[in-house]
This record gives sequence, structure tokens and C-alpha cells, in this order.
Amino acid sequence: MRFSKLRTFQIPGTASFRCRFIVTTCRAVVLPRFGGPHVLELRPDAPVPDLKPTEVLVRTRAVSINPLDTRMRSGYGRSIFGPLLPLILGRDISGEVAATGASVRSLSVGQEVFGALHPTAVRGTYADYAILSEDELTSKPVSISHVEASAIPFAALTAWRALKSTARIAEGQRILIVGGGGAVGFAAIQLCVATGCHVSTTCGSQSLAWILAAGAEQAVDYTSEDIESALKGNFDAVLDTIGVPDTERVGINLLKRGGHYMTLQGEAASLSDRYGLAVGLPAATAMLLKKQLQYRFSHGIEYSWTYMRADSEGLYEICKLSEAGKLKIPVEKTFPITQVREAHEAKDNRQIPGKVVLELD
Ligand SMILES: NC(=O)c1ccc[n+]([C@@H]2O[C@H](COP(=O)([O-])OP(=O)(O)OC[C@H]3O[C@@H](n4cnc5c(N)ncnc54)[C@H](OP(=O)(O)O)[C@@H]3O)[C@@H](O)[C@H]2O)c1
Repeated sequence: MRFSKLRTFQIPGTASFRCRFIVTTCRAVVLPRFGGPHVLELRPDAPVPDLKPTEVLVRTRAVSINPLDTRMRSGYGRSIFGPLLPLILGRDISGEVAATGASVRSLSVGQEVFGALHPTAVRGTYADYAILSEDELTSKPVSISHVEASAIPFAALTAWRALKSTARIAEGQRILIVGGGGAVGFAAIQLCVATGCHVSTTCGSQSLAWILAAGAEQAVDYTSEDIESALKGNFDAVLDTIGVPDTERVGINLLKRGGHYMTLQGEAASLSDRYGLAVGLPAATAMLLKKQLQYRFSHGIEYSWTYMRADSEGLYEICKLSEAGKLKIPVEKTFPITQVREAHEAKDNRQIPGKVVLELD
């Protein structure tokens, strides 16, 4: 890791200057080409760009592995990311603020923070120093470790976006979470419970007990039960984290009129990968529009593809819920960043069902 000379930033509207030691290179996991875990390279000297005014340099302590990381590594989103290689993987982060851009006001050097980059960020968080914008970070919940904190933001913000921003769930509503055993699904269950909703979910048999303990009223084992007949309809919203044709059909049939069906498996990236951005993106827009019209006409429901988005207010609420012990994502195993290939291999082979976190010393 290399440090440059002292740099100075003028504080806007004042004559005073802030001084910082800025890191110019650091250790990072670089993806030079798409492929299996073996393509990942832990490099000692990845460049650390200068901070823009709204950006924050974070000394990384822990990053969690999301399905997007392993999918990106394998080539998902190649139409977007291919021309940008080599890139650094990783969305989630927990660490400490090392430096702030000139206009950052809510965070200060030394503060413990957690947060997540948006899905298309090119310089990810698998690095000793990561750069996020101010609105992608907030104070880390003090009651949990960096490892525990790093498991939360990307999954919880994805659930937040769907439930709070799109469906605008409210107390007393009935919500179905398809795939409650995954990180997004489990975060979604806890957000619904904290809002006062009645939650049903589908999950594997090993997840049943802890999902019910988190407050879901009904958990149906998708490996042994027919979910359509086990779940009684009239839901206000369905969040489908699995998003295959069968879960989409069942989810839509179980909604009441005016309800929201939201899938995490939008087709914009896969169609763009198949046909190129110029054809794939308009094709995806046309497909989404067709489905929206079709389901509005046939079932009277709102259909959407939902994506994780930075949401500073949402992240703050997620922090408060986590602090209160109402939102957690269990971490199954940790690896040092030096074993990032082994960690990705374990996720690829489904050896570890739950969250895996990489630790940076
Ligand atoms: N659109 C976006 O912006 C966005 C953001 C985040 C994630 N995602 C996507 O959303 C999906 C979930 O992400 P995640 O982070 O929650 O993944 P995860 O933690 O790896 O969870 C996956 C879980 O899905 C469950 N599952 C598999 N097949 C199922 C089925 N037929 N019915 C019910 N549950 C089933 C399994 O739970 P059991 O252990 O209970 O069997 C598994 O643990 C991934 O495909 C990811 O790429 C999209």
C-alpha cells in the first residue's frame, strides 16, 4: 500500500483547508477476465483514484459475497462490464472512514461505517480501500461487528427498494416473500415484520425454524410442499427473489387486485448480454411493458422488475433496525481476503448455503 504526499482540500465557502494522507495504491481483488474463481487476482498495487467532492474513502474491514459478485465474475452483465475490465468485485462493505471529499458533511475520518455500492459500480469493495459516495454509507450499528455489518446493506437495501419504495407496504398487509431463506428474502421478512405486516414465505426445510423465529407467520417448504395450495391467496404484495416462471405464475395468482408482484430477476442484463446493449435494452423494456400491461389486464396487479438502489434514508432505517436487533443476516463462514478464490469456489459449489464474508486485516 502506498501513500502520497499530504493533500489539501479547501472547505467550500471558507478560507480553511483540510489535510489528509491519501492512499494512491492498495491491495485489491481484481477481475481481469470473466471465468471461474481462479481468474480472481489479489494484487498488491491496485490504483486508488482521487476522491470526488461527494465521495468517501473507506478502510475496509469486511465485505460480504453477494450472488451478484459470483455472477459478475462468471460473465453476467458482460455487455456492461466487458469493456470496463479489469474491475474490482464487491458491493457490501463495513469499515472506517479514511478520508472524505470536500463536500462530505455527514461522515468524518475515523468513523465506523457500513453500506453498499450500486450494482453497476466498477471499482468494488474487495480492496483495502474502497470509494463510496456519501449517500451509500451510514454509521455502522455499534452493537454488531464489521463481519456482521457487512452482510446486511446490499441485501437489505434490495428488499427495502421493493417493499418500501415500490409496494409501499403498510401495517396489517399480507406479504409473500418467495425465497425467505436467502439474504434478501430474510431481510425482507424482517422489514415486513418491523412494519407490522403478516408475512408468509417459501424456503428450504433447514431455514424453516429461524424464519418462523424471525416473525414469519407461515413458512412453506418448497422442496416438499406444493406452495400454491399451501399458501392461501389475497396478498397485498409478493417479493419473488427466485423469479423463475413457476414462482412468477404462483406469486401473481396469489395477489389481490391492486397488489404488487416484484421480481429480482429482471431481464435487462441477460438480454443485453445475449443481443448487445443496443438491442437488449430496448428488448427488455418492451418485454417489461408487455408483462405490465398483460398482468394489469388479466389480474389487475402491478408487475415490476426491482433492483437494488442506494437510498441513504433506507440505509439509516436499516441501521436503526439492526441496532434494535430487528434486522440481522446470519454469517455462515468467513475467509481472509487472501482466500477469495476458495470463498468463491465454496459459493459456486453451494458448499456453504448462507452468507460468506471476506475479512481484511
Ligand atoms: N435485482 C437486484 O438488484 C438483486 C439484488 C440482490 C439479489 N438479487 C438476486 O436475488 C437472488 C437472491 O439473492 P440473495 O442474496 O438473497 O441470495 P442467497 O442469499 O444466496 O439466497 C438464495 C436462497 O434462495 C433459496 N431458494 C433457492 N431456490 C428456491 C425456491 N425455488 N424457492 C424458494 N427459495 C429458494 C435458498 O434458500 P433455502 O436455503 O431456504 O433453500 C437459497 O438460500 C439472487 O438470484 C440474486 O442474484 C438481485
